Amino acid sequence: MIEFKKVTKYYNNHKALNNINLHVKQGEFISLVGMSGAGKSTMLKLLVGEEQLDDGSILIDDIDMTKIRKSDLPYLRRKIGVVFQDIKLLPKRTAFENVAFAMEVSGHTKEQINKDVPRILELVGLTHKTHNFPHEMSGGEKQRVAIARSLAHRPVLLLADEPTGNLDEINAAEVIDLLLKINELGTTVLLATHASDLVNKIKKRVITIEGGQITMEQEKGKYKL
Ligand SMILES: Nc1ncnc2c1ncn2[C@@H]1O[C@H](COP(=O)(O)OP(=O)(O)O)[C@@H](O)[C@H]1O
Ligand SMILES: [Mg+2]
Repeated sequence: MIEFKKVTKYYNNHKALNNINLHVKQGEFISLVGMSGAGKSTMLKLLVGEEQLDDGSILIDDIDMTKIRKSDLPYLRRKIGVVFQDIKLLPKRTAFENVAFAMEVSGHTKEQINKDVPRILELVGLTHKTHNFPHEMSGGEKQRVAIARSLAHRPVLLLADEPTGNLDEINAAEVIDLLLKINELGTTVLLATHASDLVNKIKKRVITIEGGQITMEQEKGKYKL
């Protein structure tokens, strides 16, 4: 599903990624771990076309990221859901409305929205918060609304960039469990994090990145710093 081939990325003269090779199969759950500045977010940004690579190539299914045109980015982004550490929900909208808004933007009908939003909120375990506003939710609940929103267009790939970064241990574990559940339902998940303790519990493939290079790959990894 995703193939990084000898990918190098510079920011001005700074080499952020150096000769990255990575193959991700459909349905995999991959944890991308490494310290701050290692290059995790850069890898995810290349996948959504938010940054361009300088050397090598990236394939996402049939899409060649070195050849993609700006006009094709919306097509690519329909395949991908993204969640970040910084949870940006619409503060004056309920959980339902936050997810509904994402669906409106991607052109779903009111009928589809009314059918799908309750299902998605149920999937993330927030049926009881359907009509609550973000300020009435815990950090973990807000992140789960953000994940619900990222699923609204039924992506085949979910990119999560430090999704537990602002959460306490219990909320973080809930978010990870949810990502695992989404993966079990068929979505490929790429989780970028520096939280090695969380990754150890996931027991899925772990890719370690240091200074822009992949330094370790483990199948059901115990990640050590
Ligand atoms: N927009 C940018 N301009 C210049 N340097 C950047 C930019 N974004 C990231 N970097 C640098 O690239 C390296 C990798 O950053 P990043 O991918 O954000 O790492 P991580 O997500 O693992 O913390 C870091 O040294 C960072 O300072
Ligand atoms: Mg980052």
